[in-house]
Amino acid sequence: MMDLSTEYLGLKLKNPLVVSSSPLTESVENILRLEDAGAAAVVLPSIFEEQLTLESNALDRDISRGTESFAESLSYFPAYEDYRQGQDSYLGLLRGAKSRCSFPIIASLNGATAGGWVRFAKEIEQAGADALELNTYSLVTDPFVSSLAVEQGIVELVRQVKQHTQLPIAVKLSSQYTSIPHLARQIDEAGADALVLFNRFYQPDFDIENLDVIPRLTLSRPEELLLRLHWIAILYGNVRAALAVTGGVHSAEDVLKAVMAGAQVAMTVSELLARGVVQLTSIQVDMVDWMEEHEYRSIDQMRGSLSRRSVPDPSPLERGNYIKTLSSYTLRPAGF
Ligand SMILES: Cc1cc2nc3c(=O)[nH]c(=O)nc-3n(C[C@H](O)[C@H](O)[C@H](O)COP(=O)(O)O)c2cc1C
Repeated sequence: MMDLSTEYLGLKLKNPLVVSSSPLTESVENILRLEDAGAAAVVLPSIFEEQLTLESNALDRDISRGTESFAESLSYFPAYEDYRQGQDSYLGLLRGAKSRCSFPIIASLNGATAGGWVRFAKEIEQAGADALELNTYSLVTDPFVSSLAVEQGIVELVRQVKQHTQLPIAVKLSSQYTSIPHLARQIDEAGADALVLFNRFYQPDFDIENLDVIPRLTLSRPEELLLRLHWIAILYGNVRAALAVTGGVHSAEDVLKAVMAGAQVAMTVSELLARGVVQLTSIQVDMVDWMEEHEYRSIDQMRGSLSRRSVPDPSPLERGNYIKTLSSYTLRPAGF
């Protein structure tokens, strides 16, 4: 019997396949289907810093306008229900999923700055989440904001979330930082239990007919996995936090590559949105077939075998590879 089990965020998972934050996990019925199809855990859709801050700001504003007494003010403002709605329905989804599913449920907070909103982490813990993923997606457009300030913001955010909850914390990062190992080490020292690499950037498209910029969401392609494998292979063994891959995981081979780079789990969404939840089952069947054929007995056995620390020649993971790769290209006559 092949042992696909793995550990992630202190949780024992039956295999390394996790369904990451997306509309796939926004209802208890869907989450049950993912469990049936073989997912080892799920990450709920994110609740956003803006959502939490807006809700509490709007409430503060209305309350201070009407009355000095908080309790009294509630009767003046029937809309109080609305402010809490986003938070309450999130906690409702979490409680529902926890009561009907038996695999771990990871909640997700999306924010880029520390602040009062991180208190919501405590409510997530009380609602029964097994862990919390912190999505730190940000897009700096202000030329006076330095990369140091951005990174300090993320580290401070992790510290604050850790202060508000006992839950294991995973930090989902974007790929565009000057020194990923340095940032990873700081986040690690701030107490993160896992790093999830990487967020995808959703670039808007330009509509040249209507002179408009329009949002565009495309599903991932398998090539996107390579960036993740590269950085997991570099970070493996250099941080205490566990590593997770998100972005470009579409097949059994992709999951195996992620583990060989050093990941504890591989997360997938686009593959399931494009080809259905049944892919979870076939990916696992293919993984077992491949492992049997290559005489592996467990997932743990292969972890990190293609990391920078383990491969006999790590240069393809380093700068030397840049020169080698560029000079390896052969011009073909068709190019002219
Ligand atoms: C429609 C859609 C909604 C998503 N919503 C969230 C979200 O709320 N929070 C989050 O952290 N990631 C979100 N993601 C990103 C996914 O969790 C995942 O990181 C990304 O799609 C890369 O994985 P994939 O290549 O398997 O799709 C979303 C992705 C999609 C396609």
